Amino acid sequence: MADSIVTVLLEYLPGLLAEEAHLLHGVEDQVKSLHRELRLMNIFLQNSEGKRNEHDIVKEVVRQIRDVAHEVEDVIDTFVLNVAEQRKRNVLGKIVHSLNHAITVHQVAKKIEGLNKEINKIYDNITKYGIERTEARVDAAAVEALHKRRRDVEEDDVVGFAHDSATLVKQLTEGNPSLDVISIIGMGGLGKTTLARKLYNSDKVKSRFRFRAWVYVSQDFQIRDLLLKIFKSVAPNYENDVMPEEMNEDELKKQMFVYLEGKRYLIVMDDIWGSEVWNDVRTAFPLNMRGSRILITSRIQEVALHASRNPPYFLPVLNKDESWELFCKKVFRAENCPADLETLGRQIVESCHGLPLAIVVLGGVLANKEKTQRTWSRLVGHVNSCLTHATTICKDILALSYAHLPRRLKPCFMYFGMYPEDFEIPVRKLIELWIAEGFMYTGSRRMER
Ligand SMILES: Nc1ncnc2c1ncn2[C@@H]1O[C@H](COP(=O)(O)OP(=O)(O)OP(=O)(O)O)[C@@H](O)[C@H]1O
Ligand SMILES: [Mg+2]
Repeated sequence: MADSIVTVLLEYLPGLLAEEAHLLHGVEDQVKSLHRELRLMNIFLQNSEGKRNEHDIVKEVVRQIRDVAHEVEDVIDTFVLNVAEQRKRNVLGKIVHSLNHAITVHQVAKKIEGLNKEINKIYDNITKYGIERTEARVDAAAVEALHKRRRDVEEDDVVGFAHDSATLVKQLTEGNPSLDVISIIGMGGLGKTTLARKLYNSDKVKSRFRFRAWVYVSQDFQIRDLLLKIFKSVAPNYENDVMPEEMNEDELKKQMFVYLEGKRYLIVMDDIWGSEVWNDVRTAFPLNMRGSRILITSRIQEVALHASRNPPYFLPVLNKDESWELFCKKVFRAENCPADLETLGRQIVESCHGLPLAIVVLGGVLANKEKTQRTWSRLVGHVNSCLTHATTICKDILALSYAHLPRRLKPCFMYFGMYPEDFEIPVRKLIELWIAEGFMYTGSRRMER
């Protein structure tokens, strides 16, 4: 994990330079230059993130960076320890060991210089092979494809949501006449988009809002595209000298504001990942007293808290009966589940823990398998390992959340991989392990091992 070790050093070194300069006496300049080089490495690591699985050269460079960064860490840690030992000695001990200490300082200075050179070589290779231009972040096309695949849920296939739907329809159509932002929050695959669609298409909502727009935001949104889509949906018959397609971002905001003023409108912004989206669009929506609403869905609670003072609506998982109903719809379509398979089936569905995405994917796979006790009994307790295809689809979708994590949290998350499935993880122990790995800090200092 080159990213984590470089992030660790980048956070550690400035603190060490600022607070413990005396410990680094004799090697500060080398450490400073090392810090500069590591910053460059870090930019490269950020930019190459999405491409590591595709390019062997990128993979190799990342491996080299990791090795050098580990060496840097070892050299500095050993040096700091050595200085601390020297300081603990009495006057006589200091004199006796002073030559040793001077040699250590000299050796460390040389070692760091060597590491600096190695980093420079790696950086030269990056330029030489033209890999600094690799794209970062998640692959936008793949995300869009995933999104499309899930978009076409038939209204009739939607299970549950009766209570959620009633609560949210009320918030959308009743109460406060001023503009309200309502949010649906929950993990990936929970059904936020499905519920929002159901609300958007419900008769009550349709008849309340003549001016409506639905936009899918995603991680790679372009603000002008979003505004244009919203504008064209709320004002399909807009006629003017300058048409929306010809407007820039500011004009779109201004004209949309003018158009919506005095109207009751509903805008759904599906799948928002950052608070900046709301900052970017808010000025396009007039705060009139007509009962207008903006509905947002997001995996991230902070997005909701940033956009609105209303408490977010946390979508719950499906209960056991709803999970079973959804599973049966996917596996048996219009038919009923044979009585002798129900107990086994319910056991299998339990491994989805009420997550609709997992149930839908699992159901889709089982629909094409033999529906017998013999086949199903082999699945109980082994759903993940037996259904590679199903778990891959779920992983792709949930990987978006991983891709969105700040880089310093990624190694912490990856750490969960060492625990077996369904294992109860003691939080204290986990935090201790994270600290021991050097993943966590207090202030500028590393939380010590
Ligand atoms: N209540 C439900 N009934 C039937 N199918 C559902 C239900 N909820 C979700 N699904 C199905 O589960 C899948 C995931 O749902 P959806 O896309 O709405 O999740 P989401 O919370 O919006 O996820 P993301 O955070 O990735 O956008 C979809 O394919 C949808 O068909
Ligand atoms: Mg969604």
